[in-house]
Parts: sequence; C-alpha cells; structure tokens
Amino acid sequence: MHRRITDKLVIATHNPGKLAEMKELLAPYGIEAVSAGELGLGEPDETGNDFRSNAAIKAIAAAKAAKLPSFADDSGIVVDALDGAPGIFSARWAGPTKDFNVAMARIERLLQERGSTTPDRRRAHFVSALCVAWPDDHLEEVQARVDGTLVWPPRGTAGFGYDPMFLPDGHSRTFGEMESIEKHGLPPLGLGLSHRARAFVKLAEICLEPR
Ligand code: IMP
Repeated sequence: MHRRITDKLVIATHNPGKLAEMKELLAPYGIEAVSAGELGLGEPDETGNDFRSNAAIKAIAAAKAAKLPSFADDSGIVVDALDGAPGIFSARWAGPTKDFNVAMARIERLLQERGSTTPDRRRAHFVSALCVAWPDDHLEEVQARVDGTLVWPPRGTAGFGYDPMFLPDGHSRTFGEMESIEKHGLPPLGLGLSHRARAFVKLAEICLEPR
C-alpha cells in the first residue's frame, strides 16, 4: 500500500538549489518543507552503488534523525559509450571546485578517445531517483529518466551541471538553452521534461494530494 505525505516533510539535502526546486514542487500540495540543513542534521556517506540506494540512504538517515517523513533525491548523467559513467559519480567528476566545464570536457575527451563522434554513439540519459522514508521504515521510491545525445561544444548558460551538453530527444535546444519552466516545469505549465520533473510526477501520483 502506498502512503500519503501529510503536513510536514524534511527535505534531505544540503544543496540550496535542490532545496529551492523541491520546495517549489511541493508548494501546490500544502506540504510544509523543512530542510535537513535547517534542522542541523548531518549528511550520510552515499555508499550505494545505484541512484535508488543513494536516495534511500539519504532519506532514511534524515527520517531517523528528525523522526519525520523525509524526502531525498539522487541524480546524475549516464553515458552509454562510457559504460554508464559518470553515473552516480556525476557530482564528483566536477572535482572539489564543482567545475562542470571540467567534467563536461572529461566526458568529451573520453568520447573522442572512443571515436564517439556521431549522435548515435553519443547517447546519454539523466536519471532521478526519489525516495520518501518514514521513521517506521516505510519507503516510497520512484525513478525516471530523460534520454538524449551529447553535443560539443556545450551550448547555453541556463541550468547547471551537464545541462549545456545535453540535447533531449525531440528538441533542438540543449537543457542549457532552455528556460527553467521548459526543463523542470510540471504540466500544465511545463512539459515535465526533465528526469526530476518526471520522477516527481510519479511520486505525486502515489504520495501527494493537491490542496
Ligand atoms: P547528486 O544527486 O547531488 O549526487 O548530484 C547529481 C549530479 O548530477 C549533479 O551535481 C549534476 O552534476 C548532475 N545532474 C543531475 N541532474 C542534472 C540536471 O538536471 N542537469 C545537469 N546536471 C545534472
């Protein structure tokens, strides 16, 4: 049986960008969102070997510490020609300075080394895994992806991370060239295009009720 989220929810992230996005997504449901940072909760090590388990590790740690239902996400980009890299290490590829120009250049160098120069050899997808954990160990988990190809040089200055080199299927602009509402917006305002928007729609179906 799926369980609904009522009232208060801890957002298990210390990333201000993610927190703002999640609060925005939850607002129409009348959920009071409080962040793990605001509650002074620590950050667990992401020791899982897939997106789903890393989201669960973060949500469970926050639920136990705060004694409240807690919501976490884990995401990244999976490049087919690189055997799925950087995958769960997407954030780490940007190094301590979080420089995604470096991370994108690394992907491009590896693709060139493999002769991946045509669009069909440059397939990639973003993945978003979402988990809500309750203090009594109940979990709700969803995952979604958006498929596309990688372009070089990167295009656009919107978004973050790997957005400027990701061209979603069926579109002529990269995520870096799209307005936030186009990339992340949920229907009816947006297309629910991004991996996170798609995962959130799935979560809303099972755990949330519009107010
Ligand atoms: P984590 O979920 O905090 O472990 O980090 C996910 C990493 O994947 C981010 O730091 C980005 O590099 C990358 N990523 C996830 N979602 C997106 C996206 O929508 N656009 C661009 N990069 C993303």
